[in-house]
Amino acid sequence: MTVNKIMVIGAGFMGAGIAQVGAQAGYEMVLYDIAPAAVDKGIAGVNKLLAKKVAKGTLAQEALDSTMALIKASTSLEDAADADLVIEAVYENADLKKDIFSQLDAVCKPECILATNTSSIPITSLAAAVKRQDKFIGMHFFSPVPVMKLCELIRAIKTSDETIGVVAEVAQKMGKVTVVAKDVPGFIVNRINSAMRCEAYKCLEEGVATVEDIDKAMKNGANLPMGPFELADFVGLDVNYSVLSTLYAGYKDSKFAPNLTLEKLVTAGDLGRKTGKGWYDYTSGEKKPRTDVKF
Ligand SMILES: NC(=O)c1ccc[n+]([C@@H]2O[C@H](COP(=O)([O-])OP(=O)(O)OC[C@H]3O[C@@H](n4cnc5c(N)ncnc54)[C@H](O)[C@@H]3O)[C@@H](O)[C@H]2O)c1
Repeated sequence: MTVNKIMVIGAGFMGAGIAQVGAQAGYEMVLYDIAPAAVDKGIAGVNKLLAKKVAKGTLAQEALDSTMALIKASTSLEDAADADLVIEAVYENADLKKDIFSQLDAVCKPECILATNTSSIPITSLAAAVKRQDKFIGMHFFSPVPVMKLCELIRAIKTSDETIGVVAEVAQKMGKVTVVAKDVPGFIVNRINSAMRCEAYKCLEEGVATVEDIDKAMKNGANLPMGPFELADFVGLDVNYSVLSTLYAGYKDSKFAPNLTLEKLVTAGDLGRKTGKGWYDYTSGEKKPRTDVKF
């Protein structure tokens, strides 16, 4: 099967990034969102990112123009009718995703592959919302999509080898390294990273070291590009909390039990970089230790 047209559902942070890497790979991309303003913002964001590269001299203006020409805005799910692949990247909410997939199942042509970018919802539970379960797959990109090299491909219980092959080729054409994982909570990266992050939270609660020193230790001693707290702030503490809750529910293993301080920060609305405060304070425009809370 040849993939030419890809529709992305949800024009947020991940959806816009997927539209960008798809267009850069030469695919005809359609970016859809229930909120028209989100589509405009997503497309403008891709344009801004590429324009910066043009200004720096690392991208030709023609490359920007040809990439942007391949991204079309959409506010109608019906535009998925002639897509070869649909990649869903809406909020991390199982009922919302199931509802969208059952609508897509009715709209899309029979050979169209349906993929979800969920971080934590079991792929098989989403696949159950459609009749074409052999053509349903997890396509887990990492943030920011244009920068991060990995795309985990997750096999739901009925995903066919052909679907894995087609989607692997698409992801690789988008410049991604692919791995195939079974449909287990957290797949590969979030499972291993979450276990490490929980250990970092325990170190903080036990008073082993400060947020800053734990990050410093892991960056300089384990050669991580970002410390566990910096990364949690970058991804969003709400996303982090929901991933941990899923892992805890899935494995029934106390090592994944969501941390109480994390829960309090989420309840207080401090979700990391996107709200200005999380494990660190970003309100001055720079990353600073928090002085308004005691961890
Ligand atoms: N942010 C990350 O680091 C990251 C990494 C990997 C995977 N993911 C997953 O990707 C998905 C999207 O995450 P995000 O960070 O881009 O979220 P986001 O909040 O930036 O974007 C979600 C978008 O979905 C749209 N949306 C909501 N309901 C919709 C509907 N019914 N139809 C169409 N669009 C709808 C919203 O308007 C919003 O623009 C989630 O499942 C998340 O778990 C996120």
